[in-house]
Amino acid sequence: MSRRDVSLTGVERFFDENEVIVSKTDLRGRITYANRVFQRVAGYTETDLMGAPHSIVRHPDMPRCVFKLLWDTLAAGQEIFAYVLNRARNGDHYWVFAHVTPSYDAAGNVVGYHSSRRVPDRAAVDKVIPLYRTLLDIENSHSDRKKGMEAAFATVVGLLQEKGIGYDEFVFSL
Ligand SMILES: Cc1cc2nc3c(=O)[nH]c(=O)nc-3n(C[C@H](O)[C@H](O)[C@H](O)COP(=O)(O)O)c2cc1C
Repeated sequence: MSRRDVSLTGVERFFDENEVIVSKTDLRGRITYANRVFQRVAGYTETDLMGAPHSIVRHPDMPRCVFKLLWDTLAAGQEIFAYVLNRARNGDHYWVFAHVTPSYDAAGNVVGYHSSRRVPDRAAVDKVIPLYRTLLDIENSHSDRKKGMEAAFATVVGLLQEKGIGYDEFVFSL
């Protein structure tokens, strides 16, 4: 099913402040573990999720440049924090503050990735919504998907340069 076919309900889902949505993936981003909180909030069973691409919860309002930053950061062996809007199975949506990190084996090789997500700060989400909207509009204004993503990515880089801060500092300043 293409993303355009997915109906969104416009209903936001919430989870508890003391809960953590956890998942692990292989190197390609296919889910190898999803905790009960993940299953409940996203509305999928463990069987649905095992082996599925993590984009199973991708929301169409998320700019793709955010995922480029995520994958570039992981490829560099670093952790990343990000505000992410996800889509539940029935089309509801939920915001998370995600921490994503590579998992290493005893020999120091990256064997997969791990993500923990907490309830995001509402004031931060209120700042992220218009920013992601702008980035998505930039992406959609290009007929070439790759060019659109690069233009949106360049916008983020420009914004950080303007502020004179790095991405981590920015995300924690929200
Ligand atoms: C550990 C880990 C957790 C991820 N969590 C999410 C998530 O919660 N939501 C999401 O949309 N993408 C998540 N991603 C990114 C997806 O793999 C994918 O890049 C993204 O959904 C964009 O999908 P697309 O490239 O098909 O557009 C995660 C990736 C990793 C490695």
